[in-house]
Amino acid sequence: MDHDAPLLLVEDLKVTLGGKMAVDGASLSIARGEVLGLVGESGCGKTMTALSLIGLVPPGARVSGRIVFDGIDVLDLPEKEIRRIRGRGIAYIFQDPASALNPFLTIGSQMMDAIMAHGDAGREEASMKAMEMLRSAGLPDALSICSAYPHQLSGGMKQRVMIALALSCNPKLIIADEPTTALDATVQASILALLGKAVRENGISMLLITHDLSIAASLSTSICVMHSGRIIEHACTEELFRNPLHPYTKELLHPSGRRLAPPSRSGCPFHPACPKRMDICTRKAPTMAGDGGHASSCWLNQREGSDA
Ligand SMILES: Nc1ncnc2c1ncn2[C@@H]1O[C@H](COP(=O)(O)OP(=O)(O)OP(=O)(O)O)[C@@H](O)[C@H]1O
Ligand code: SF4
Ligand SMILES: [Mg+2]
Repeated sequence: MDHDAPLLLVEDLKVTLGGKMAVDGASLSIARGEVLGLVGESGCGKTMTALSLIGLVPPGARVSGRIVFDGIDVLDLPEKEIRRIRGRGIAYIFQDPASALNPFLTIGSQMMDAIMAHGDAGREEASMKAMEMLRSAGLPDALSICSAYPHQLSGGMKQRVMIALALSCNPKLIIADEPTTALDATVQASILALLGKAVRENGISMLLITHDLSIAASLSTSICVMHSGRIIEHACTEELFRNPLHPYTKELLHPSGRRLAPPSRSGCPFHPACPKRMDICTRKAPTMAGDGGHASSCWLNQREGSDA
């Protein structure tokens, strides 16, 4: 296996749902140990991109493009093999931990099931490991957490359990889809700190999905900005904040307060809302271009646009 190759490579991913393009040619890559932020407004396609990686798009969705995880072409795999990757290689932390936990089982038995499913631990060993993982997820009273049902825990506690569950299968990649949106600000900060510590200490890569650039910046080494199903800018975090290229990224960084017109299906999707639009923008969609790891899809930054 080529260890210099990215852990995850996504090329020209398209997801169509009920005739609508939810993801429209997204490409991204995540190196081993890297945290990549995926940022964009509600409905831009972040979750559909992430669900495609683990084969969990809604029934009837059509997925095309290329997804290579740890050297394996995921889109070519039969369902059984995708399930194996879902459990072991990639762990998914959902926005709403309540819906991801089984309400009829105690936290202890859900933790033990996950641990036994992903290793050869017996019941006693799995029980010890469950408690150890809950403690390291910031739940010191692991014994009583183990005997509790999900509804007996606060939102922050449930999210800590989700993180412990995610780590219990020794994943190479964690997808955290809006992991703190449902939590209040102080709990948000402690959950983000826990996630950051978990990935750093275990050398795990992470795709951190959020609509909030500052949350992405707190953990991510680089950031992809998504708009209308497309990645429209990608750069390392520092560079993106220092020198944003795309007008939409600039709007996210320094909101103008004006109401943005909805995306267009022709030309550059952002053109109805763009204060910088030119004639070419209404006719032709730009593609990603750039250098030194900083790329954007905007005619302003491309030769063809300046010639228009
Ligand atoms: N089950 C579904 N059936 C049909 N269309 C869907 C379904 N789920 C999402 N979509 C559509 O796919 C597009 C992308 O949705 P997605 O959930 O990926 O957005 P998102 O960026 O994750 O938004 P949010 O920040 O609100 O979670 C949206 O237009 C949405 O309406
Ligand atoms: S391509 Fe044109 S409309 Fe689109 S973001 Fe750039 S300047 Fe604005
Ligand atoms: Mg979402």
